[in-house]
Amino acid sequence: MSATRQHLVSLRSWSGDDIHQVVEGGIRLKAEPRAFATSLAGQSLGMLFQKTSTRTRCSSEVGMFQLGGQAVFLDWRSTNFGLADLADEARVLSRYFDFILVRFRRHADVVTVAEAAGVPVMNGCCDRYHPLQALCDLQTIQERLGRLEGVHLVYLGVHNNVTNSLITAGLRTGMHITVAAPEINAAAANAELLAEARASGRYQETRDVRAAVAQADVVYTDTWLDMQFFDDPEYAEEKTRRIELLQPYQLNQTLLSGSRAIIMHCLPAHRGYEIEGALVDDPRSVIFDQAENRLHSQKATLLKLAGLLP
Ligand code: CP
Ligand code: NVA
Repeated sequence: MSATRQHLVSLRSWSGDDIHQVVEGGIRLKAEPRAFATSLAGQSLGMLFQKTSTRTRCSSEVGMFQLGGQAVFLDWRSTNFGLADLADEARVLSRYFDFILVRFRRHADVVTVAEAAGVPVMNGCCDRYHPLQALCDLQTIQERLGRLEGVHLVYLGVHNNVTNSLITAGLRTGMHITVAAPEINAAAANAELLAEARASGRYQETRDVRAAVAQADVVYTDTWLDMQFFDDPEYAEEKTRRIELLQPYQLNQTLLSGSRAIIMHCLPAHRGYEIEGALVDDPRSVIFDQAENRLHSQKATLLKLAGLLP
């Protein structure tokens, strides 16, 4: 594996084959949960979080346990990371742990940890990317539709960290991606990623949500405001502005009437905002399979980074 591929900072350094390997690995681990029960025996995962989490934290802790290893959760605020040099503290973690998972506010800090640590580092969601989410999403699409090649995913809402990782993973595996997003989070703006996407011939941007949904095999949305801002009084005005702007981009029953597309959301969902509550529970929704697949896909990712995934 190349130096950049020993980490999962972003899927931009991973090839289509790398992504397929984790997708197939996740499917196998789901079918045979005991297959790798001792593969990571004696190994430890350090999980350092600046932000809250349900899925990323639980799937990683349980996944590591199911592979025979151990996970240690570190809340940023109860460590000495806040008062020390980030690279120094990361070097220390890599003296104890065999893998490190970080959920940071800023992408640059994920890169600093990856450069300083001597062990594989996984990005558990920053302001720019959410690669572990995209891997489990592709597993879910592969399971439901039997293929990735040629599948058309339409993303509606705010172009954010999840959007960037979906674009990268989707295009590397032959999917078509359409983004209908009148707003992009400043930290997610990535000219290089978009130039590459546009050059692929399989990426489009549109404001015509009806026409886009009519062609979709998969419709996907995510929060209109990232988690750290959602209930922050300082962002109340911005939240109101976005709610007004984004109403036409809401996934709802009217928009999806007649569509056979599967419905995806990385969760946590804000019912009544980016997605109508009824659609979370709709027969076309695969949202809870996606959440479950975080576990299987996370296990496959750990095995890949350990060089143990066939
Ligand atoms: N989808 C996702 O990453 O969920 P959490 O924020 O709960 O980890
Ligand atoms: N875009 C969302 C993803 C949550 C998993 C956020 O960053 O809050």
